[in-house]
Amino acid sequence: MALARAFAVALVGVEGQVVEVEADLAQGLPGLTVIGLPDAALAEARDRVRAAIVNSGHSWPSRRITLALSPAWLPKRGSGFDLALAAAVLSADGVVAAASLHGRVLLGELGLDGRVRPVRGVLPAALTARRAGIERLVVSSDNLREAHLVPGLTARGVGCLRDLVALLRGEDYDESVPPAPVRLPVERPDLADVVGQVSGRTAVEVAAAGGHHALLLGPPGSGKTMLAERLPGLLPPLSRQEALEVTAVHSVAGLLPEGEPLVELPPFQDPHHTATVASIVGGGSGIARPGAASLAHRGVLFLDEAPEFSSRVLDALRQPLESGRLSITRVGGTAVYPAAFSLLLAANPCPCAKPDGDCSCPPDTRRRYLARLSGPLLDRVDMHVEVPQITLTELLADSGHTETTAVVAARVRAARARARSRLAGTPWRTNSQVPAVELRRRWPLPRTSTATADVALDRGRLTARGYGRVLRLAWTLADLQECDRPGPEHVDHALRFRLGTAVGELAA
Ligand SMILES: Nc1ncnc2c1ncn2[C@@H]1O[C@H](COP(=O)(O)OP(=O)(O)O)[C@@H](O)[C@H]1O
Ligand SMILES: [Mg+2]
Ligand SMILES: [Zn+2]
Repeated sequence: MALARAFAVALVGVEGQVVEVEADLAQGLPGLTVIGLPDAALAEARDRVRAAIVNSGHSWPSRRITLALSPAWLPKRGSGFDLALAAAVLSADGVVAAASLHGRVLLGELGLDGRVRPVRGVLPAALTARRAGIERLVVSSDNLREAHLVPGLTARGVGCLRDLVALLRGEDYDESVPPAPVRLPVERPDLADVVGQVSGRTAVEVAAAGGHHALLLGPPGSGKTMLAERLPGLLPPLSRQEALEVTAVHSVAGLLPEGEPLVELPPFQDPHHTATVASIVGGGSGIARPGAASLAHRGVLFLDEAPEFSSRVLDALRQPLESGRLSITRVGGTAVYPAAFSLLLAANPCPCAKPDGDCSCPPDTRRRYLARLSGPLLDRVDMHVEVPQITLTELLADSGHTETTAVVAARVRAARARARSRLAGTPWRTNSQVPAVELRRRWPLPRTSTATADVALDRGRLTARGYGRVLRLAWTLADLQECDRPGPEHVDHALRFRLGTAVGELAA
């Protein structure tokens, strides 16, 4: 047989499409051509595939070989097509039967010695294959646990090209599946370590319960970073659906922790303030890779020393804050990644970063520093919270009475369950996801409850967007207190959170 066909998957972002790989062996001057929009890594596949086949004990067909990937317009990237390319050549050369490649997707990179190496994005690729009606998948043994996450798909692992040939011929081979690693419980810092900071503690609790965004403003050493690091511990584990979404992004980024095929805990991303736009929102050559904002999907994105981030980074966050997604266009195509995270910002009130008493900078310096957090960005942040310097007495006092992460997390769980049952039958799961219009239409509140917020809106102290955020926050505060709906006290509290700091004025 001189023409053969195998299948692989091309990913753009976390979306994919099944790709047909054809090998044609023709009479003529021996040579190898690959066609169908291959990128540089894929072009090198020629050499890898050839060496791998020869070093696995097969002869390289001495013919004019054409390898075509289709659809041709679809951008293809990386080394994951090696396995399908090799299989197509072997089938065209009669080494394996054509039928053995039908209805089977092959994903893997080949080493020159014929070893099959793991690739990125196996989970989204496997989901793509399943959606296309394919039921059989072959991957590197190292990717097998990730491939097994997809129900309805029979995944097999191979360690080298010889294994693949044996598998396709229906012969036995040593399919050694890496053992499930022993998972150590994740050590997360406890909220009980934080002394004082009642507002700050409440803010992280509320952020966890409703998925809200918060700014922590206070002098250095007051515990802002401590508070932020304790937010993930308050979040419940991801649902199966959420875990698959998060894992797909981490898989494409090549950042799945070794031996952990499924990300089950909400991620926490804290990029440094020198981070580039590409590393936060995604980018790179060819098809964009996900950045920290997408890696934080269903978790927390923490920007410590937020005013130090470049204004381009801060501006770029507006898109995911509005839509929960990021679409990034590069020459290779437009990749869309999910990016629904809780945004946590921490800021010193002044660039000198001195304790409150020691700062003698002019008010203008402070104002300009905080103004770097642009109005449009801060307008999307639900809580502006002051985290003041704690006193030595507070620090030395017995902290035994402060609530632990376990206690607060239980309250968060209950509040989330309350919100979820209210939102049953809607596309939303947390209060922060509900559009303001829908919130007012479906769950209207009497004016007696919203009076203070109404006045703030009237007087221009709140934008219309800010008003919506206050209402969502009020619902979360009510959920945390097991109230059926927010009363005036919850709306007032939400309003104070919203207008809490001097920065609130800048955003207005
Ligand atoms: N509220 C607090 N309770 C207990 N320790 C604190 C508190 N605030 C600061 N500290 C101590 O100071 C250190 C620095 O705190 P950090 O959270 O980094 O401050 P910030 O981010 O506000 O500059 C912490 O590691 C901790 O030892
Ligand atoms: Mg800090
Ligand atoms: Zn200063």
